[in-house]
Amino acid sequence: MIRPVRPEDAEELAALYAANRDFLRPFEPVRPPEFFTAEGQLARLERQLADDTHPFAILDGESIAGTINVFHIVREALQGCTIGYWIDGRRNGRGLATGAVGEVVSYAFGALGLHRVEAATLVDNVASQRVLEKNGFDRIGLARSFLRIAGDWRDFYLFQRIAD
Ligand SMILES: CC(C)(COP(=O)(O)OP(=O)(O)OC[C@H]1O[C@@H](n2cnc3c(N)ncnc32)[C@H](O)[C@@H]1OP(=O)(O)O)[C@@H](O)C(=O)NCCC(=O)NCCS
Repeated sequence: MIRPVRPEDAEELAALYAANRDFLRPFEPVRPPEFFTAEGQLARLERQLADDTHPFAILDGESIAGTINVFHIVREALQGCTIGYWIDGRRNGRGLATGAVGEVVSYAFGALGLHRVEAATLVDNVASQRVLEKNGFDRIGLARSFLRIAGDWRDFYLFQRIAD
């Protein structure tokens, strides 16, 4: 249910982000207007690929229902990465995020040969915490003032899953 994001997805992704602008606002950094355009999405994809980020589309049939990214890949002694994801508000509650996290964890431990996957959720984002717990993640603890979300530095719970 996930596949790498392609340049030709830019228009569909821009439309999906625009449709979810209000839904995602409490969970995301402030997005500039060009983020919601095909050109902005194409430029973002180019930056991600140059930055060793692995962006995936989460599919609902033929359509893109969200994205899940693997980033902050660190080798040497850590052999870890971080994941971030979201699902179209109209398609929540169908197990799409749970399935996508499961697939991306397999990719991180398999194709990428990593040892550890990290994720962070806002303290009150119970749905995302549930998605991680269903995928075998352990809660590490509270990271105070961890990310600037919707303009404010917010506390997050950090989670990790270690390769079996
Ligand atoms: C969090 C998010 C990814 C979940 O996507 P989803 O496809 O609806 O998730 P799933 O259907 O796979 O699983 C959601 C689980 O959370 C549970 N859940 C949802 N809202 C809940 C709530 N308010 N309290 C407790 N559990 C809740 C669901 O019941 C389900 O668990 P279950 O299978 O045990 O019943 C989606 O809501 C989203 O994109 N939110 C905005 C962006 C975001 O938070 N991204 C993640 C950042 S860490």
